[in-house]
Amino acid sequence: MYTYQNLIEKCNAAIAAIEYPKSPQGLYEPIAYALSLGGKRIRPVFMLLSAQLFSKDAEAFMDAAVSIEMYHNYTLLHDDLMDNADVRRGKPTVHRRWDANTAILSGDAMLMEVYKRIFTAVTNQKALEVFLNTALEVCEGQQYDMNFESRMDVTLSEYFEMIRLKTGVLISCALKMGALMGGASEQDAQLLYDYGIQIGKAFQVQDDYLDVFGDTRTFGKAIGGDILEGKKTFLLIRALNKATATQKLQMLDWLENTNCDPQDKIDFITQLYEDLGIPADYELCMQECYDKADAILAQLQVPADAKAELKAFADKLMHRIN
Ligand code: IPE
Ligand code: IPE
Ligand code: MG
Ligand code: MG
Ligand code: MG
Repeated sequence: MYTYQNLIEKCNAAIAAIEYPKSPQGLYEPIAYALSLGGKRIRPVFMLLSAQLFSKDAEAFMDAAVSIEMYHNYTLLHDDLMDNADVRRGKPTVHRRWDANTAILSGDAMLMEVYKRIFTAVTNQKALEVFLNTALEVCEGQQYDMNFESRMDVTLSEYFEMIRLKTGVLISCALKMGALMGGASEQDAQLLYDYGIQIGKAFQVQDDYLDVFGDTRTFGKAIGGDILEGKKTFLLIRALNKATATQKLQMLDWLENTNCDPQDKIDFITQLYEDLGIPADYELCMQECYDKADAILAQLQVPADAKAELKAFADKLMHRIN
């Protein structure tokens, strides 16, 4: 059995060993750049931890795991362009280091590379279907995320559906594919999928939180980016719901003001989040997701040590700073 730490190292080694064509350099260099900057590697590790619940040889699924990480990194190239984000993992984003066209085309090439790899690595038809459905759902989630930028009346349930699609389903997909490849029953694979939805929900709510209350040196992204982009995050929606009429008017004034100093906008909204007790709501939401996730995991009849390792990895994510 592998520990999650073993698996992170193995994933990093497999990613570092990828060879890219030399030319055209403008296409492949940004791909190598994006994949070399680290990241938590949570999706491939979840895939392998899930496979390990059912199979003695989780490492056999490393090519599939690398594919899912490459897919995730492809989404980030396009996401950073869509979100106007300058920094990721403490380094300039691809569209900043190169340009928008590079982020689009290198991203497209990455996606094609993912297809090539995943159709070779994964023979389980059901697992491939999960991946293809997921890839489309992620696009749906990203579209809702953009649609919501220009709306001020997004409900918490619309938000949770948006993050299920943009973030949750890929984590679920990794877990379900791992389970199916490892030989799980359809029922157990579905339990892991449902587990992933709860972990993914917590993960994105936490990403929203860290975007405001994180430390840019550890988080690796610009703090306050979501506020400036008009993102409808867990924090913003909760704040709009809890604010008094006066606070709400002030908030809308600041959010719609495009002429102010961006840092002043971030500072005002952040202070309001604190005044309204949003960090405590965040903690509660996280705990609810983790409790639901644990309840799902409890239904799985699998070796205790492998299950404990999956739970340890999820628990570690709950306290992440990056
Ligand atoms: C970033 O994902 C995109 C979100 C879904 C919030 P990660 O936080 O997993 O990014 P890396 O790969 O670890 O950098
Ligand atoms: C990311 O959501 C979702 C996908 C990339 C599909 P965010 O836009 O919040 O992720 P970060 O904060 O840029 O990593
Ligand atoms: Mg983004
Ligand atoms: Mg985004
Ligand atoms: Mg974010």
